[in-house]
Amino acid sequence: MSYSELNGKMDQENRQSAARCPHFGTCGGCRTQDIPYHLQLEQKRSDLRELSAPVVPPDLLETLDVYPSPILWEYRNRMEFTFSSRDDRLVLGLHRRGKYWDLIDLEECHLCPSEFSRILWAVREFARDSGLPAYHKNRHDGFWRYLLIRGTCATRRFLADIMTAEENMQVIAGLAKHLTQSCPELRGLYWSYVPGVADVAAPLRSELVFGQPFITERFLGLEAPIYSRTFMQPNLTVAATIYETLADALNLSGQERVLDLYCGMGLIGGSLSDRVAEALGIEIDPVNVETAHEFIRRNGLGNVRVMQSDVASVQRPPFDLRGKDVIILDPPRAGLSRQVFAFLDACPPCRIACLSCNPKALADNLARFADAGRYRPFFLKAFDMFPHTPHVEVLALLEPV
Ligand SMILES: C[S@@+](CC[C@H](N)C(=O)[O-])C[C@H]1O[C@@H](n2cnc3c(N)ncnc32)[C@H](O)[C@@H]1O
Repeated sequence: MSYSELNGKMDQENRQSAARCPHFGTCGGCRTQDIPYHLQLEQKRSDLRELSAPVVPPDLLETLDVYPSPILWEYRNRMEFTFSSRDDRLVLGLHRRGKYWDLIDLEECHLCPSEFSRILWAVREFARDSGLPAYHKNRHDGFWRYLLIRGTCATRRFLADIMTAEENMQVIAGLAKHLTQSCPELRGLYWSYVPGVADVAAPLRSELVFGQPFITERFLGLEAPIYSRTFMQPNLTVAATIYETLADALNLSGQERVLDLYCGMGLIGGSLSDRVAEALGIEIDPVNVETAHEFIRRNGLGNVRVMQSDVASVQRPPFDLRGKDVIILDPPRAGLSRQVFAFLDACPPCRIACLSCNPKALADNLARFADAGRYRPFFLKAFDMFPHTPHVEVLALLEPV
């Protein structure tokens, strides 16, 4: 299907279902769902062109396109919901638009599989009946804090992680019983202890309450395990296209060595395994490293390794990098740190792939590469990982000058 045919189809589908969510307008989750999809893409493309103009050659700017997500709804494989209370009633949902302190008591969310809503309803019903209060952000008291749901959009398998500010295993056992009866689609439940005052779902401890520790998703012919807190790109259909585009644009010969910085569970290295000599990933989060080891083992990826380390502390490449070898950089939203640029400056020239969900940070990073004068971008493409939101994922490839 051509781009224009695809856009036409999406436009039609989208117009029929414009703003299909009852929370549209108040929820901070997706802000552009009333805009026809082809116009969302056009907007993203024009914003990107403006941002990238100072840092990429005019021919790349001219051909810069935004690959549309083949799935417009139910594309997210991960959602985090927050507990709060309003007028003494427990609320579970997403933040209200522009009001991080206020929550919408969520009925449905069309960005994730419909099973997410059913699991949310069951958890909220149990939490209300428990009589225990939601955690209060300012007073720092209360029990229920966050509900994290993971799911596989294709095979419809689900995991939940209930996060509380206090330990009360009797209540959690009651919740487990309630969920096994009301949500047969749930494959496992974690409980996580989050006593910290910061409003982030960063547990001190996690344990599996029932079921299996991870669900699996087919990804580019591989079996990818997903634990409750494994990092994974939120829209896997688009992620698969990004990784294939990356491999094709690098025109790999099979001899290349790949250093995959910020590798998560190693999906990029894994997807390149039969097109390169070896891939080494570096990742800071132990949950992702554990997932990566399971991923490598399950798929027999003999030439892929993942090490736990802070990228900022890497000073020398772990193997000789040269010529057509590749360094992949896929940092969190903030982009690349000073230490990473110092490391890159110390590496012999090779090829660099920058992937980013923050076009502004990417543009700043490309400006830094341009200032140093060692690399120039030869490929730039955007991918709509997040339909109905202003966000977009961008891939830039650089080669030595
Ligand atoms: C945007 S994700 C990319 C994951 C992976 N490339 C993928 O596509 O699935 C960024 C990853 O960097 C990791 N990370 C963040 N800061 C890091 C650091 N200082 N050193 C190593 N890894 C880091 C995060 O845990 C996360 O897994």
